Amino acid sequence: MAAGRRSQGRRRDPCPARLGPGALSDRAWGVGAQGEGCAPRLARVAPELGEIGPPGGDYRRPGQTGRWGVIPVYEPFLGVRVRQYVLDCVESGWVSSLGQYVPRFEAEFSRFCGVPYGIATSNGTTALHLALAVLGIKPGDEVIVPALTFVATANAVAYTGASVVLADVDPATWTLDPESVRQLITPRTRAIIPVHLYGHPCDMDPIVALARQHGLRVVEDAAEAHGARYRGRPVGSLGDLGCFSFYGNKIITTGEGGMVVTANREWAERAAFLRDHAMVKAPHYYHPEIGFNYRMTNIQAAIGCAQMEEIATVLERKRAIAAAYCAGLCPIPGLTLAPQADWAESVFWMYSVLVEPSFGKEREAVCEGLRAAGIDTRPFFVPLHELPPYRRADPLPIASRLGATGINLPSGPALTSEQVEFICRSLAALRGPA
Ligand SMILES: Cc1ncc(COP(=O)(O)O)c(C=O)c1O
Repeated sequence: MAAGRRSQGRRRDPCPARLGPGALSDRAWGVGAQGEGCAPRLARVAPELGEIGPPGGDYRRPGQTGRWGVIPVYEPFLGVRVRQYVLDCVESGWVSSLGQYVPRFEAEFSRFCGVPYGIATSNGTTALHLALAVLGIKPGDEVIVPALTFVATANAVAYTGASVVLADVDPATWTLDPESVRQLITPRTRAIIPVHLYGHPCDMDPIVALARQHGLRVVEDAAEAHGARYRGRPVGSLGDLGCFSFYGNKIITTGEGGMVVTANREWAERAAFLRDHAMVKAPHYYHPEIGFNYRMTNIQAAIGCAQMEEIATVLERKRAIAAAYCAGLCPIPGLTLAPQADWAESVFWMYSVLVEPSFGKEREAVCEGLRAAGIDTRPFFVPLHELPPYRRADPLPIASRLGATGINLPSGPALTSEQVEFICRSLAALRGPA
């Protein structure tokens, strides 16, 4: 059962030992074992995952019940230097967008992405809008985005006045389907926005090839995928411009924040110019065109610099958590687990499962059951073609199916092995009659 359930398309199991020191060996997670077999394997993970984040990994809150209170879907791990750097901003008075931390964070994060330029922004949505503005996307243009994504991807296109064109997603990776993109290209198409959904890279080579063939630009929406790799290359460096979010639940956070990264100097300079009200250096207050205030503050960037010191640890824990989930959930029939294509290194921003009909219970009932056990979850994004602003008549069947059956499980880096085990057992217990 398990092997068949996991062998769709180009997917690869996220469990193998390459996932890092906290991951399990092939023998330890052994695909195909049933029921009880999963617990000892998870027990072996326990000492490796250890605990970071909230002291004692104790999520109890006043008035909450359950063993840990409610285990949240995500809680950031801020790290040790954050107080020091933020205090430095406060004590030095550099609290707005001038100050040493903004250029430092831009340099460190763009280097992490393998490109020379980073332009920090107020959030991930403004990063996307800024990238599209740099490319000159305007009313009358069409931009192709996947139907399964957070609404910000499409909203950023709408802000430019261009038309949002929705493509379906690949059932194996849950990300933009290149074949669907190919069918939607018209003479008005100007750009494609692949989204590295829930931390799994999109299959970029065919998308970039299509873009080159038709003279289109590629803006990666990597809001959820800091550190993910596609054929060994970091996301954000694969298209023309890459966009990230540093919202509180992301792999690293600045509270609110975002960044555009690119290898193109001209675009980087234009992004910095437009981000700051299209202000020229001289004369004072001369604005040759309409720009935006999409600046990141020095305080946000200070948090970002502290977070960059933790990003390797966070990514290692995310992979170990995914391996632990994989080990615990593999034996449960009726669940399709988070994808991991052969060519991908997912960062498992969210560890997600699909509740298949053979699970014997609807997705909503599963979420309610988990909630009653003190486990918070989120359903998948409502596909964009099912939202009033982007509604369209033609079906996008894969996005609809994933949107109706997907659940994001607790995925924060402070999760302990014991909690992952508890979540897996709770899920197993919720299975209905086959
Ligand atoms: C795929 C995707 N794109 C864009 C964004 C927008 O980022 P922000 O919330 O920082 O504006 C998000 C944020 O959650 C996202 O998940």
